[in-house]
Order: sequence, then structure tokens, then C-alpha cells
Amino acid sequence: MTDFSERVESISISGIRKVFESASADAINLGIGQPDFPTPTNARQAAVDAVESGRADAYTGNKGIPELREAIAAKHARDNDLDVDPDDVIATAGGSEALHIAMEAHVDEGDEVIIPDPGFVAYQNLTYLAGGEPVPVGLRDDLTLDPADVEAAITDDTAVFIVNSPGNPTGAVNPEADMREFARIADEHDVLCITDEVYERIVYEGEHRSPMEFAETDNVVLVNACSKAYSMTGWRLGWVTGSTRRIERMLRVHQYVQACASAPAQYAAAEALSGPQEPVGEMVEQFEARRDVLVDALRDMGLDVPSPQGAFYVMPEVPEGWVDEVLSRDVVVVPGDAFGAQGEGYARISYAASMDDIEAAIDVMREATAAVR
Ligand SMILES: Cc1ncc(COP(=O)(O)O)c(C=O)c1O
Repeated sequence: MTDFSERVESISISGIRKVFESASADAINLGIGQPDFPTPTNARQAAVDAVESGRADAYTGNKGIPELREAIAAKHARDNDLDVDPDDVIATAGGSEALHIAMEAHVDEGDEVIIPDPGFVAYQNLTYLAGGEPVPVGLRDDLTLDPADVEAAITDDTAVFIVNSPGNPTGAVNPEADMREFARIADEHDVLCITDEVYERIVYEGEHRSPMEFAETDNVVLVNACSKAYSMTGWRLGWVTGSTRRIERMLRVHQYVQACASAPAQYAAAEALSGPQEPVGEMVEQFEARRDVLVDALRDMGLDVPSPQGAFYVMPEVPEGWVDEVLSRDVVVVPGDAFGAQGEGYARISYAASMDDIEAAIDVMREATAAVR
């Protein structure tokens, strides 16, 4: 009998999924990692038009349709002051595929990949799938990744380090000085920085900057997606950009695992990125109001929590048994250790839910806090 590969046996279904599966159908879900807003109408319409005209029937070029890659390049010029050649962009099936092909193209058997801990669940598992060894690095008290800790973790075997700001599960945003440091580290140590910027547009304080702006070598690869900014998680549309030689290597993987991103989604994304940007601002305003209510309430319960500057998650330190008490009262939150060993003793709470649900969940969290004290 054929055994399963060691690689697949080294990974498992995400702890987040397990929490969902154990929750009852009418639970309030603050475990979710997607905005609770509709995709902007103009983006939806662009997909409808492409489908109805037959333009979305066939494979597109492997990298994606030129309109989309031009819209992505224009977006990087507008938002990030980055000069990106549309030919150095691959449209992918979400940020997830972009991360996957970036890892496959750069990680060899036994290579080390430095990842934030707690960090997005895919980093560790994609590292294993690429044959690498994850090296988790803990976070500062404000839950940002410290470039000095990344630098200290670099060895001769390090191939990649991953930066994710605004961060999942923390909502923390690295300031410009950190991004400059990440770029310097990538340059000086000749290791690749994969910067995962899928929450880029959801920032309340400070400003999103990219290590790619500051790097002097091509040792930065940037991953982004329409998923969070335009509430397009179901469309599965992301992208990766980097130097021509890196894109060419990632394209080799993309060509065989994906061929091309979904054509209707590519038309929708081109419109989302180049059309009116007001829906993003309106969504971020609502997230900010919810964040404030939630953070105030958690602090009022006596929980220690830095106010997140971006994304739509808060990550308080919680007393032992708190997550189980909350889950048993039909509010879904995710235990911090689903994101890495250093997440133990924390919980990730998503506020991509209505204010009514957040307020009802706050009452439940108060009860749970009282129950474990
Ligand atoms: C930090 C981070 N990166 C990447 C992704 C993947 O995004 P996508 O849905 O575009 O594949 C997510 C999704 O939750 C995420 O939180």
C-alpha cells in the first residue's frame, strides 16, 4: 500500500477549523477571518459582464490578464510608492496560493523559515510542505515582530523570514522603522523576506509601509490579495510580486498547480483595485468603531490587551479556561495556541461581525471572565 507522504503527514487541519466544527449552528461567530461586508457592486458587475460576454470562458495567461496586472501595478504606485512592472506580477488563487508558490520556489529540504509566533496558520504548514523547518519567533509586548529577534534567529540554514503587518492573529502593525530593518536584514544576510500584506488597507493608526520599499536587493517578495480589502474572500484572488527572476521561478510552480487564477475573479479584482475606493474606507471606519467597543470592554473586564492598529482581530491575554468558558456559552473565539506555541494563554477575537453580535458576545465574555476568576 502506498503510504502518505511525510510532508502531508507533518501538517494537520487548522485549529481554527476545529473550533468552528465544534460550535453550534446559532453560536455568535467571532472566530471568522473575513469581513462581514458585501463585495463592492462594481467588482461584482465586472465579473458578471466578463461572464456574460464570454471573456471569462477560457484560461487566461498564466500570470493573469494584463488589465489586472496593470491595475495591481497602479495600486502599488498609488498606495505603496512602489514601481512594479505588470510583468512581474502573478495573479493567484488568493493570498494563500501566493504564499505557497513563494515558499515552493525558495525553500529547499532542511532550510529554515523564520515565522512570527503567534502567526497566520499557513506559515508553519507551508514551510513543512516545502520541506523546510519553521523557526518560530515570539512577539514584542505590543504583539509586533521585532526585527532584532528575526536577525538573532538567522543561521546559515535560513532561507526565508515572513513579515505580516497588519498581522493575523494580532492586529499589530509594524512601524516604518521596523520595515526598514526587515529590508536591511534581507539585504545584509541575503535571505528572502516574504511580506504578507493582505491586511494592508485595514489600518486605523499609523501607516502601512512595505519592506519592499526599502530593500536594495531583490530579497523581498510581496504577497497581497483582494480578499480582505474588498471583502472578496470567496473570489480567491491574490497576487505575488517580486523581481523578474523570482517571478519566473514562482511562475513555474503556479503554472503546474493552478494554470491561472479564476478568470471571472480576475475581472472583478481589476475593477475592485482600479475603481472607486470608498467602500474600503467605509468598511475600515466600521471596523474601527467595533474595535474600540471591544477593546474597551475587554480592558474593563481586567484583561490585558494592546489596542490593535490594523486588521480585524484583537488578541487579549486571557485567564486559564477562559476560551472554553466562552465557547461553552456559544460564542466562537479561537485559542491563541492555534497560531503557535507562544499564543498559549491568549485568544483571538475577530470583530468582523455586527455591532449587535459584538455587544452580545461582550456580555458572554464578562460572564466567562467572572466564572474563571
Ligand atoms: C495573514 C494572512 N495571509 C494570507 C491569508 C490568505 O488570504 P486569501 O484568503 O487571500 O487566500 C490570510 C487569510 O486569512 C491571512 O490572514
